[in-house]
Order: sequence, then C-alpha cells, then structure tokens
Amino acid sequence: MSSYKIEGGKKLRGDVNISGSKNAVLGILAAAMMLDGPCKIENVPDIVDVQAMLEICETLGAKINPCGGGVFEIDPTNISTYEATHPKVKNIRASYYLLGALLTRFKKATMYMPGGCNFGNRPIDLHLKGFQKMGAKGTRSTDIRDGIIRIVADELKGAHIFLDVVSVGATINLMLAATKAIGVTTIENAAKEPHIVDVANFLNAMGANIKGAGTDTIRIKGVPVLPGGYSYSVIPDQIEAGTYMIAAGVTRGDVTIHNLIPKHMEPLTVKMIEMGFGIEQGDDWIRVFANEDTELESTNFKTRPYPGFPTDLQPQATVLLCMANGMSRMHENVWDNRFQYIPELQSMGASITVMERIALINGPVKFCGARVTALDLRAGAAMVLAGLAAEGTTTVMAANRIERGYEKIVEKLRAIGADIIYVEDDVDEHIVTVADE
Ligand code: EPZ
Repeated sequence: MSSYKIEGGKKLRGDVNISGSKNAVLGILAAAMMLDGPCKIENVPDIVDVQAMLEICETLGAKINPCGGGVFEIDPTNISTYEATHPKVKNIRASYYLLGALLTRFKKATMYMPGGCNFGNRPIDLHLKGFQKMGAKGTRSTDIRDGIIRIVADELKGAHIFLDVVSVGATINLMLAATKAIGVTTIENAAKEPHIVDVANFLNAMGANIKGAGTDTIRIKGVPVLPGGYSYSVIPDQIEAGTYMIAAGVTRGDVTIHNLIPKHMEPLTVKMIEMGFGIEQGDDWIRVFANEDTELESTNFKTRPYPGFPTDLQPQATVLLCMANGMSRMHENVWDNRFQYIPELQSMGASITVMERIALINGPVKFCGARVTALDLRAGAAMVLAGLAAEGTTTVMAANRIERGYEKIVEKLRAIGADIIYVEDDVDEHIVTVADE
C-alpha cells in the first residue's frame, strides 16, 4: 500500500499553482459524451479520478486524444454503447453523471451504482426521481437489481423539478438529461457550486441553452443538436486551493496560491482572517501568512452548500482549529458521517469530542508524528496537513486515496519547503480498514 512519509515542523514558504477542478472536470467529461461533435478540454488535472473517468469514456467508444499539458481532444461521435459497466464505474462517485449523458444520447442508460468516498449514506434518489419526471422508467429503487441501474425513456421531456435536498450531483445530472430534452426544464433549489456553473458554461459553449447556473433556479431549454467543436478550459479547483491555504496556516508559513478564483475561496478566507491569519489577494492569487507568535482565535465553522463553507474542506479546517486557542466547533451539515478521521487525528494529539454532527475542538495542541491512514480523499489531505505541522515523522497510509483528487501533491508541497516523500509499497501493521469506496 502506498504512503506519504512526512518530517513535520517545516514552515511552508513560496508559491504554488492550483490545477483544474476535479469536481468540474468529471461533470464536463460526462457532458462531453453527449455532444454531436468533438471538443477540446484544457486545464484537466492529472489525478486518479480523472484517469478513471477517461478510461470509462474510452470503453464507451469515445476517442480520447491526450495533447499534453492537461489538454485532451475528445470525440464522442462513435460511442456505441449505453452500458457503463466498466469496473472503474464503481470506483468513483462522478460516474453517475453518465446516467444523464447516456440517457440523452441513447434514451437508455445502464450502469453500476457509483462508488466514491465512504462517509455515510450516499443516495441517488434525487437523480432518479428527476429522470422519472422527465419521462424515464426504471428509476424506482426496486428497479435497481444486482447493483445495476437500468433506465430507459421513449422521450425526455422538459419538467419542473424541485430538489428537496440541495444536491451537487443531482443538479448536474438533471442538467445533462435536460440539455436535449423536448421543452424547458427548471431545477428549483439547485446547488450553486462553482463546478456546476463550469459544467453549464461548458455545455453552453458546445451549443446548449442553460440559464441560471449558480443560482437556485436553473432553466434548461432543450436543443436538438449539441454541435461541440470548441475548446473549454476547466476552472481552478476550489478545494485544492483551500487545502494549500490551510497548509500555509498550519505551518505558520507564508505561501501565495496562484491560479485560483478568490471569490470561490471567500467561505474560507473570511474564517482564516477571523482566526488571525494574514491574507492578501489579487485577481487570481491569495497569500496566506502567519507569524510564529500569532495567537490564533478559536471559531466555529458550519459546512453548507455553496456559498457556505464547503464540506470538502471540513477535515482540513478541523486540523487548523486544533491550533486555535480555546474551544472551536465544526458543524458538518451536509454528510451524516464525515468525522471518521477524528481518531486518526487524536492519535497525533488532537483534543476533539464528536457529538453527532458537531466536533468540539480544544486547542491549541502540538501534533506529534504518527502512523495514520487516509480514510478517504479529504480526510487523507487532513492527515497530510497534520503531518506537516507535527513534530517528528508522520506516515500517511493509503496515499492512493489522496491521489484521487490532488495533482502532484508531493511535488507541489516539496516546492514550498515540505519534507514529504511518496513510498510506493509501504508494508505496515497500522492499517485502519474502512469499507472500501
Ligand atoms: C459532490 O458529491 C462532490 N463530489 C463531493 O465531493 C461533495 O462532498 C458533495 O458534492 C457536496 O458538495 C463530486 O462532485 C464528484 P450531493 P455528491 O449530491 O454529488 C444528499 C470530494 O471530496 N443526497 O451534493 O454525491 C446526500 O446524502 C467529494 O471531492 C440525497 O439525499 O453530493 C448529501 O447529504 C466528496 N439524494 C447531500 O444530498 C441524492 O439523490 C449532498 O449530496 C443525492 C444527494
């Protein structure tokens, strides 16, 4: 099993560049499968989940030509199957976007239930109910047999859909299914994350008619053809950028994070300023700095759908709160079991009590190096952050889970002064097992 070995206590200093957004590009790659012509996608991050999605798209029959530098030419016109049953479909959550894409292309879609990080129940009922409202059949939970979803539609018709839970995945998936439907679809109570706007912008660039992405009401007027034929550049990754902002904070360093969109970072920026960190920002960069003697103030975070504080920065921000004076609270309002990593953090010295969806964090603590496991993508990132701040050596097992969403994380951290190495095959007795994704 691969691992990262970290000698902690080094202040991070210098400049780091952010890569393309994982959660935008996975939706965009699925959307590309619906086009009636080729397209070019730029700023694609080289991460495991993207590699998996590209592989799945190729097994469907799409032609994928890597041009280098994160640029891919994609030609979906020879896609010959509506069955997404490649084993890797079970490895990633975003494979479920192929339901909306294949339903649009073939009026049929068959695929394994999706995988993804394991932090509680991850239903797709909102996706299926929305497809049903648009005319699809096979969308009831009782229709799903042997872990395989089989949906068909004579026609996809525009519908008025209200999401009773704000869902990123359902918003994107239903946007895909509505793009060539007959008539107008409105999605009320839609999620507003930056990656949703990016998928909508990609589709509009390729000939779709989508308005309101980024608000809670998205209106999609079905078009007969999606000609494609253009290039599109993926937005920077909000969560990667936030992770490096926090890395600068936990090491009391001075790091400028480039190629980001400051507005997307506001939910984190305001909280780090509140805690006492120095923040400067420009058009596409944010500098985070703190002195050794800066007294960090405790505070409370509440995860919410965008523009609230993102749940995908919750584990990382919890590490930061361990360094603040006094009692802080982390409220996890999106997922029902996203504190599984806390015992790993406690083994490094954290003083945290979890009461259902609230973590009470007592600080400041000085982390000690330990052998810990990356239980999922963002929990793994949090272990790396704690290791960077800790005294001594930290080994983060299951590093492959972190490589799902962070491009060149070892190179990027080493370039700003971290002492971190990748260990290919670290046989170790400290393996915390979790039900695999
Ligand atoms: C996306 O997951 C992200 N993944 C997650 O990021 C992120 O945590 C999540 O959005 C919230 O921002 C990708 O984009 C690939 P949801 P998704 O549908 O779409 C409930 C990462 O680290 N719900 O917005 O699965 C659900 O249980 C990953 O990059 C239903 O009830 O999340 C949850 O409580 C981890 N029924 C809430 O909605 C449904 O049909 C939000 O889920 C769908 C969701």
